Formats: sequence, C-alpha cells, structure tokens
Amino acid sequence: MNEPPAPVAVPPGFALAEGERILCQLEDIPDGGAKGFPAPPGRFMGFFLVRQGEAVFAYVNSCPHIGVPLEWVPDQFLDAKREFIQCSTHNAFFRIADGYCVGGPCTGESLEMLPARVAGGLVILGAEPED
Ligand code: FES
Repeated sequence: MNEPPAPVAVPPGFALAEGERILCQLEDIPDGGAKGFPAPPGRFMGFFLVRQGEAVFAYVNSCPHIGVPLEWVPDQFLDAKREFIQCSTHNAFFRIADGYCVGGPCTGESLEMLPARVAGGLVILGAEPED
C-alpha cells in the first residue's frame, strides 16, 4: 500500500461534525481512480476511496468472500475499464456506488461502506472502520 497523503490541517472556519476527520485533498485521488489507506491505529483493516468526479465512495478494504484486502497492487481497486471495484484474489466485482457484488464468489453480498464526503476540496471520513 502506498503511503497515505500527508495530513491536512483543518482550514480556519471549516466545520467538522463529531467523529469526522480530513483524509486528504480530493486532488490526491485521480478522477476515476482509487486510493488505499492503512488501518487506523488500533484497527486491523484499512479502507479505500474511489473517486468519480466530485464524489468519493469509501469502503473497508475487506472482501466479503474470505475477508482479505482487495488489491494486490497499491491503489489498484478497480477493473481495467474502471467500471467496478474488483477483488484481486478471486475476481469478484462490486458496484462503485454501493459496493454490491454483481459477479464472483460473493455475488449478492456487499463491501462495507463508510461515510465519506467532499467539502472545500477535502475528503472527509465520518467514522473509523470497525473490525
Ligand atoms: S477473496 Fe475476494 S473474491 Fe475471493
């Protein structure tokens, strides 16, 4: 996994809700791409973001099939056409917008989505991954 972007300070006048934290700048994630983040201190599983324009989708980096991380190559969470999230282990495919598995050994199951939002060009995570 690549190193996460450098911490971003809360800009003056910027409001964060309870439990929220700034992850990175939106521009740290290529449009149509993804970025992985290590597990927060005290947690076991990391998470990743997929960017589509001004929107981001955040998921715990654990395949519902057998619970392993989805990527073999850092930040490579998407299929070749960047239409689906793809698990590298047994090629399950998940919809980007809701994490629902549409093909592979865990069809019908879903990735664990995390609350994330974009404000002021910053990506904000609303809750730490639960292991
Ligand atoms: S571990 Fe993801 S499809 Fe098997």
